[in-house]
Amino acid sequence: MSITLKNVSYSYRGKYQTVRAVAGVSYDFEPGRMYAIVGKSGSGKTTLMSLMAGLDLPTEGEILVDGKSTAKWDRSLLRRDAVSVIYQNYNLFPLLTVAENIRYPLTLKRVPGKQAREVARKMRERVELPQTYDNRLPAHLSGGEQQRVAIARSLAQGCKIILADEPTGNLDTANTANIVSILRSLAHEEGCTVIIVTHDMGVAEQADVVLRMKDGTWTE
Ligand SMILES: Nc1ncnc2c1ncn2[C@@H]1O[C@H](COP(=O)(O)OP(=O)(O)OP(=O)(O)O)[C@@H](O)[C@H]1O
Ligand SMILES: [Mg+2]
Repeated sequence: MSITLKNVSYSYRGKYQTVRAVAGVSYDFEPGRMYAIVGKSGSGKTTLMSLMAGLDLPTEGEILVDGKSTAKWDRSLLRRDAVSVIYQNYNLFPLLTVAENIRYPLTLKRVPGKQAREVARKMRERVELPQTYDNRLPAHLSGGEQQRVAIARSLAQGCKIILADEPTGNLDTANTANIVSILRSLAHEEGCTVIIVTHDMGVAEQADVVLRMKDGTWTE
């Protein structure tokens, strides 16, 4: 699925001041490519990602997901069927096992148990985690393994657009390379639209397109 930014701005309105975190950005993200967004702390990257995930609406402009404005998408359907978010701290459900975490989105979609387990197994294999991990809890996994579970969960969701905010921020070099190569292959082999926010230039170099943000807008 494509995701299109049309002159998008976002301001945080506080009691005493307004911060214009995103200031008039336009861009067309296409399926089958991996994009990196880089920029200094406070440049608006996370704010832009939240808007693309439909967590909030732009204060100006619009974001089209698969041609339809996030203002018109039903928020839960947008998250269920189109956009999935991967965070630096993995955000797995701590009391669910690995297998249960991966099939959680299928449970939400009321996919029958047997079919859900089958999909979850395939996705676990896709991120190269062995079967013995199925019954383990996230807390007993390394950071890289937890991030792979988070990616498998996004895959089980059948998401077309993957937004990853500093997905390798807590990982060492080897795990970073592994996660980035999985995300790259999701774009190149499965046609997902992958957008990664990163501070790591090594990660950005792996992307097809690197976008730089400064003061809420694109810069050279
Ligand atoms: N909830 C909020 N309320 C008010 N201002 C906010 C809020 N969240 C972010 N901001 C401000 O908006 C601007 C952009 O923040 P954002 O989190 O998008 O930056 P970022 O590029 O993701 O930074 P980092 O690299 O540190 O994660 C900053 O000036 C920040 O202080
Ligand atoms: Mg951020």
